[in-house]
Amino acid sequence: MSKNILVLPGDGIGPEIVSEAVKVLAVLRDDFGLDVDLDEALVGGAAIDATGGPLPDATLDLAREVDAILLGAVGGPKWEALDISIRPEKGLLGLRSELNLFANLRPAILYPQLAAASSLKADIVAGLNIMIVRELTGGIYFGQPRGVRELDRGERQGFNTLVYSESEIERIAAVAFDIARKRGSRLCSVDKANVLESTELWREVVTRVGEAYADVELSHMYVDNAAMQLVKWPKQFDVMVTTNMFGDILSDCAAMLTGSIGMLPSASLDEQGKGMYEPIHGSAPDIAGQGTANPLATILSVAMMLRYSLDEPAMADRIEHAVDRVLDDGLRTADIMSEGMTEVSCESMGDAVVSALS
Ligand code: IPM
Ligand code: MG
Repeated sequence: MSKNILVLPGDGIGPEIVSEAVKVLAVLRDDFGLDVDLDEALVGGAAIDATGGPLPDATLDLAREVDAILLGAVGGPKWEALDISIRPEKGLLGLRSELNLFANLRPAILYPQLAAASSLKADIVAGLNIMIVRELTGGIYFGQPRGVRELDRGERQGFNTLVYSESEIERIAAVAFDIARKRGSRLCSVDKANVLESTELWREVVTRVGEAYADVELSHMYVDNAAMQLVKWPKQFDVMVTTNMFGDILSDCAAMLTGSIGMLPSASLDEQGKGMYEPIHGSAPDIAGQGTANPLATILSVAMMLRYSLDEPAMADRIEHAVDRVLDDGLRTADIMSEGMTEVSCESMGDAVVSALS
């Protein structure tokens, strides 16, 4: 039975990078027997322009039906003046929460070919392979109450709430322990338990869940130290698990260790393994429409989709090997360009990956 994939290009460079990833999917379908049907819908600013809201019902209905979703990126200056409740980002956050995609996997892997593109010294990042497991449907991103209120003394006050229930912590911890078990068997849980009660509970619950994983070595780290350790000696980490907001911040930091945020894919999964796949970078409005964006994070997100939601590990390997090949061949988009390499456009990079598939 063929699997259904919903494609959501979004805004900024979203449509450019997604069309290269779709090209890869189409070749896998037409030439390599991947049984998939693709559908496309609106999200983010593109949806606001067309329908008035960032997550139209039609998009959400389709998203609920399909086996997996491929998303580009959302947001841009055009929509920044809108109320926060109807901005493009709400389309993305709405998909995550409506579909219960609580487990966000963000691998930070350094391709040896890109060691020179990292802002850190080669020996610090060589061989880097970290998996960040970010809680994605809770914490301060979704906590109530939230808003901006008028105080008696005539000034306004902005407020958000950081909440985590035991069951939310338990399920993300279990995902992280399971992943650690299949990798280097080391899990570092990142919190701010010295200041925030919600993450004191986080630490307690993660420790409790760990009792069932005697084979995984669990450690805990405060988030400020984790940020420092990531740039000091990142190879000390195998799997990291953390809250929604800490994961947002630390994954950008980890991404840069690998040379460019343009290389990093992600998977957001529900309890059944249904997922939404997206590059971890944003819509990069400053370079949108110039054809210079790096499509590799989105193409690698398709590989994650094949592995985690479509049960096609061989197809996933095929994509990852193809990306390896084009990097070996010296092809680079602007963000990962270094001396002696060949700078190519977004589209040429997509074409090169397609040719390297066979
Ligand atoms: C990410 C992004 C999003 C987030 C934004 C676009 C809402 O930064 O996926 O990391 O904060 O989660
Ligand atoms: Mg982010």
